[in-house]
Amino acid sequence: MAHSFLIKPMLGEDYPVISYGKGVFLYDEEGKKYLDASSGAVTANIGHGVAEILKAMSDQAEKVSFVYRSQFTSAAAEQLAEKIARLTPGDLNWSFFVNSGSEATETAMKMAIQYWQEQGIYTKTKILSRWVSYHGITLGALSMSGHTSRRERFVPLLEDFPAIHPPYCYRCPYQLQAPSCDYLCARELETAIKRIGADKIAAFIAEPVIGAAGGAIAPPKDYFKTIRKICDDHQILFIADEVMTGTGRTGTMFACEHWGVLPDIAALGKGLGAGYTPIAAAVASEKVMKPILNGTKSVMSGHTFSANPLSCAVSLAVLEYVQKNNLMKQVKSKSDNLMKSLEKLKNLFSFIGDIRGKGLLLGIEFVQNRKTKQPFSRTASVTQKVISLAREQGLLVYPAGAGIDGVNGDAIIIAPPLTISEKEIDELIDLLNKTLEAFSNQLGDQETAGEG
Ligand SMILES: Cc1ncc(COP(=O)(O)O)c(C=O)c1O
Repeated sequence: MAHSFLIKPMLGEDYPVISYGKGVFLYDEEGKKYLDASSGAVTANIGHGVAEILKAMSDQAEKVSFVYRSQFTSAAAEQLAEKIARLTPGDLNWSFFVNSGSEATETAMKMAIQYWQEQGIYTKTKILSRWVSYHGITLGALSMSGHTSRRERFVPLLEDFPAIHPPYCYRCPYQLQAPSCDYLCARELETAIKRIGADKIAAFIAEPVIGAAGGAIAPPKDYFKTIRKICDDHQILFIADEVMTGTGRTGTMFACEHWGVLPDIAALGKGLGAGYTPIAAAVASEKVMKPILNGTKSVMSGHTFSANPLSCAVSLAVLEYVQKNNLMKQVKSKSDNLMKSLEKLKNLFSFIGDIRGKGLLLGIEFVQNRKTKQPFSRTASVTQKVISLAREQGLLVYPAGAGIDGVNGDAIIIAPPLTISEKEIDELIDLLNKTLEAFSNQLGDQETAGEG
């Protein structure tokens, strides 16, 4: 490729140029076809190239693309906020639109702090979170993220918000099993609150299913009920980071619904625009909005492009598409089929340690030794190797962290568009099987080379 001035994730590496996408497939300029088994970064929830979304985009652009939120509102933004209020459970009725998941979690954090300030409480400014978590790359969001490698360079600028272990049953820090463990990893929150002081803590934030940092770690049954109760007992808000899990990815609008809890504030992103436009939202409950509505009447956050009509119209069309095509209802059976096939692959490849996740957000953790769960060494770059081999096969999967220390561990996420057909699931599994066979051969070659 000619010299590039674009700062890509890995400078000096060649990236294929995609010329178009249709459904679950992407096609590069050389005609190679890729099955998008990760929806990009768990984003393209309705697949690529959906004509009615493009129509909604051009219809809105013909009217007006941009108005500034402090000067005007728009029908598109009003309708999107109303649609989210109707789709979300409970009284999570108020949307603040932003452009990325990082901005959504950061806005949620600011709303939580403001909620207490509006009631005259100025000391509650900390946000507790978990290790093995990811809430975004901006400094506030990164402060909340227990993602070791993404924090590393900026630690002096960050708050030390990660306070407790994740519900990582495959590598339980207590070597226990749910439910007899009595959810000790959730109960750690109570200990952390007592140590720090509830009077200093505004909120606790968690991803319902841990994505990028953990490779689709779903919690055991009563984990979130325990968390919710501890938050309520200590007057701490609960923020659900549904950026990856929300808008249908796990079969419900919010993944939290599976475990019978609701947050005070939720962050949405990724699937909200499904890759057709950058949009995200902090969605607040009536409880959180009440003191703000009775107080300053203004949430202190915002960006130039917040609630821009073009993004809102596109997102509205995406949510309507999800509803009209009953995509959330189809998630469970598609997930069950995918899971069954992944379990079969686990029988074939001993380096698969764990298969997990919820809905169409599934993860595979790789280990050197299945019995001891010993991870591969960092220098083996297993995740990157699997990703590259998959790409050679024409399969896109998403790299994730794994391992209780957030450093040593390898995992990939399988999260195809919710529109994937059963036939395409078979194709996905076939390509994944070929990928893992190629990886197995590489491992075999290394061992043979080692023996020599
Ligand atoms: C759970 C979660 N929260 C927040 C973010 C940050 O979103 P963005 O990359 O759009 O800023 C991500 C991104 O991967 C995420 O998975």
